[in-house]
Amino acid sequence: MVSFATSLTKESIVDVEGVISVPDKLITGATQHVEIQVRKLYCISRAVPNLPFNIEDASQSKTEFKKAEESGEQLVRVGQDTKLNNRGLDLRTPANQAIFRVKSVGVNKGRQFLLSKNFVEIFTPKVIAGSSEGGAEVFKLDYKGKPACLAQSPQLHKQMTICGGFDRVFEVGPVFRAENSYTHRHLCEFVGLDIEMEIKEHYYEVCDIVEELFVEIFNHLNDNCCKELEVIKLQYPFQPIKYLPKRLTYDEGVRMLKEAGVEIEPMGDLSTEAEKKLGKLVSDKYNTDFFILTKFPLGIRPFYTMPCHDNSEYSNSFDVFLRGEEIISGSQRIHDPEMLTKRAEQCGIDVETISTYMDSFRNATRLHGGFGAGLERIVMLFCGLNNIRKCSLFPRDPQRLNP
Ligand code: 4AD
Repeated sequence: MVSFATSLTKESIVDVEGVISVPDKLITGATQHVEIQVRKLYCISRAVPNLPFNIEDASQSKTEFKKAEESGEQLVRVGQDTKLNNRGLDLRTPANQAIFRVKSVGVNKGRQFLLSKNFVEIFTPKVIAGSSEGGAEVFKLDYKGKPACLAQSPQLHKQMTICGGFDRVFEVGPVFRAENSYTHRHLCEFVGLDIEMEIKEHYYEVCDIVEELFVEIFNHLNDNCCKELEVIKLQYPFQPIKYLPKRLTYDEGVRMLKEAGVEIEPMGDLSTEAEKKLGKLVSDKYNTDFFILTKFPLGIRPFYTMPCHDNSEYSNSFDVFLRGEEIISGSQRIHDPEMLTKRAEQCGIDVETISTYMDSFRNATRLHGGFGAGLERIVMLFCGLNNIRKCSLFPRDPQRLNP
């Protein structure tokens, strides 16, 4: 049996039958305080002898590399592409197992919370006739001879369910973006958590849900995923987030940035660097890594965003930030069909391709708003990771379609 056991390759799957005992003395190098006195050993599935990499090597932290370097020890570095090319093996590292458990626990807590608040879970089509967010960043395809594309968001159909009489809906589903962003936080396919709801008076009602939902999720993760978070920290050390919610307007945020010497294009979008800087300023001033920026200029928001009633240069919209990076965007939506058509045309949308969406508003629709959140980005920032690909099982980016 000993010679059979030593012939087994690393990562093979084995079944062991034996007696568990607690040794008087740990064998040198042993990490467990129990032993199995093996009676029977079966090999269920044998791994090839030349694995692309060892799990131990793929699990090393930067600190371990540094220590090894200082002591002249040789550690094998496994690069991100090698890991992702062999994701079936890479997923076995303890940190990866923990990351995807955190993602699963978090999304299920979110689902539970939304169901308890009377939201109905919906499933909207992912092959649609026209782009849902505007812009050219869509994956085009041929739908039985008709031009179609993969949905950039469930935006149009989630709004159409509100037109259809639902007052609160949510969806967890794939979102496709053909943008050529090769960054640490963009994917071509990610999982979106979207909600859409009737509002009585103000889009702040949507912000209230954002705050309540994410404080619940973060509390739940801290209480129920302690082990997983510790395992992630062993490979990728991070400080836990502070998440006392804070709201600021876009103008207040821009003022803080200007006072800190950061130049912002008037009424323009915040660059990644400006977002990071604002995150640091808010964290220092209000002791939180979780804040909402409201009342963005209308010109930098999608066509369906409701302008502010007292100043149409601005809009009833918001973005949510975690550790200085955007994780959610939301707004009140235009419910008036004439205004919607006008805004779509102004934004260069081909109105013909979304005419059935436009028509849904002709039957009268209540005031409504919602948001879209990117799950991989949230997990990445919650766990202080440096790359969104770590939070996608099989990431899709402009250069990666496999595995
Ligand atoms: O800001 P976005 O594009 O907003 C929407 O999709 C709107 N329909 C939402 C709404 O209800 N008004 O995307 C929402 C979120 C972002 O804040 C970000 O977390 C994530 O989706 N996201 C991405 N995540 C990974 N890769 C990308 N390329 C992403 N683009 C957006």
